[in-house]
Amino acid sequence: MSGSKPQASLYERLGGVYAIATVVDDFIDRVMGDARLNANPKVDEAHHKVPPPGFKYLVTEMVCWAAGGPQRYTGRTMVDSHRDLGITPKEWEAFLDDLRQSFEKFRVPAAEQTELRAIVQSTYDDIVVGKDPGPSLAPSKAPAGGAKGRQRPR
Ligand code: HEM
Repeated sequence: MSGSKPQASLYERLGGVYAIATVVDDFIDRVMGDARLNANPKVDEAHHKVPPPGFKYLVTEMVCWAAGGPQRYTGRTMVDSHRDLGITPKEWEAFLDDLRQSFEKFRVPAAEQTELRAIVQSTYDDIVVGKDPGPSLAPSKAPAGGAKGRQRPR
């Protein structure tokens, strides 16, 4: 009797693609309709030019992949898809608040919430602008792994 079962992947613990797609569906509806985010005209414009099902598809693919599922993420890097949006730290907080609401709605367990938040947080430096002290003064604080895209060349 070893008592040490191998830990199931985050993907498995979340319930696989159907469970993940259900949470993403709710979450992207919140994000796309969030007045705190759409107050940024670039975000508003971009949110209204992409059809929600395609956006949800790509985010589902990414989350499944980052959680250890068999999917492969086929979308653009986080730098490429967000570089022109000028997303601020405040908007980032609104996005995390939407995420929290979706987690609560579907009662995602605390441990899995923490792991998912770490994945999301690993993309911060690729998505948020306006936190740098100046050109090339800031060392990259990005943690290894997660769902990070390529670094933007400076
Ligand atoms: C405040 C935070 C964020 C805002 C306001 C935001 C907004 C947007 C918008 C407007 C687009 C469409 C861009 C376009 O097609 O021109 C987009 C694309 C995307 N975003 Fe975000 N985003 C945020 C954070 C994140 C995070 C944290 C992730 C993942 C961890 C993410 C994943 C994606 C993906 C997968 C796409 C599709 C990429 C593609 O088109 O190939 N976003 N985002």
